[in-house]
Amino acid sequence: MQVQHLEGKTFGSVITGVDLENLDNETWDRLYGQWIDRALLIFPSVFLSSEGQDEFALRFGGLEFPRTAISNIGKGEKIHHKVTDDVVKVLRGNEGWHHDSTYMPIQAKAAVFSAEIVPSSGGATGWVDLRDAYESLDKTTQEQVGGMQAYHSYYYSQGRDGYLPNERNEDGTYNYYGFHDHDVSLRPLVKEHPVTGKKNLIIGRHAHDIIGMTREESQVFLDELNEYACQEHRMYYHDWRPGDTVVWDNRCLMHRATSYDMTEQRRMWHTRIAGDALTESALNHQPV
Ligand SMILES: [Fe+2]
Repeated sequence: MQVQHLEGKTFGSVITGVDLENLDNETWDRLYGQWIDRALLIFPSVFLSSEGQDEFALRFGGLEFPRTAISNIGKGEKIHHKVTDDVVKVLRGNEGWHHDSTYMPIQAKAAVFSAEIVPSSGGATGWVDLRDAYESLDKTTQEQVGGMQAYHSYYYSQGRDGYLPNERNEDGTYNYYGFHDHDVSLRPLVKEHPVTGKKNLIIGRHAHDIIGMTREESQVFLDELNEYACQEHRMYYHDWRPGDTVVWDNRCLMHRATSYDMTEQRRMWHTRIAGDALTESALNHQPV
């Protein structure tokens, strides 16, 4: 197994020379250690099988949901490309920086993500290191954000960006993942990583309405904090080739999709690894 850290970045490593579908315990231990340290592992051209992707994901923990297509290719090879199309709205929403499932009662731990069909250009995925973002804040700001809590909602993020689905149910919900009718998740802006104990920001597009602020004050504050966090030197964009697979730590990184010509086909596969209820539950969804 060869490990190449991303040059000049605070996170991310390219791993080669390892068979992810036949890992012995020693290699797994090394891999997991690297992942905890680097938060993003990239495996170029490994072409995981569909079962292999979920089995690899299961090594990190139980699944929030199994391998699912993230794609503009619909039934009968229909290409979803119009801005008014609900599939396109979901995909475009992903272009804002976010942690997965912070709007759910339990935030996701991680994701395994792989490329099957990629467009001729565009469609890179970006990640940003929120450990580094937190550490680089001055002490006063660290203390200030350390005491803050914000709500996280998919209704909020998709609504703000104009991407709510066309059809709404009578009870106000929508038929897409994430539009749940539980209490809106409340989360601290600063969280300790359950394995390393290191602090990082929990922010992104789903966060809104910091407790004690007006909606407008909160929006301005969170927009500025997101902008501060998402700086080039703690960011990495991966240009996909078919067969590439990554696994990232959703507890301390944010990520985003980037645009591409949606009349071209793109099919990615996402397996979402569930957060531990003890450490990733929202403040108002604590396990009893
Ligand atoms: Fe995502």
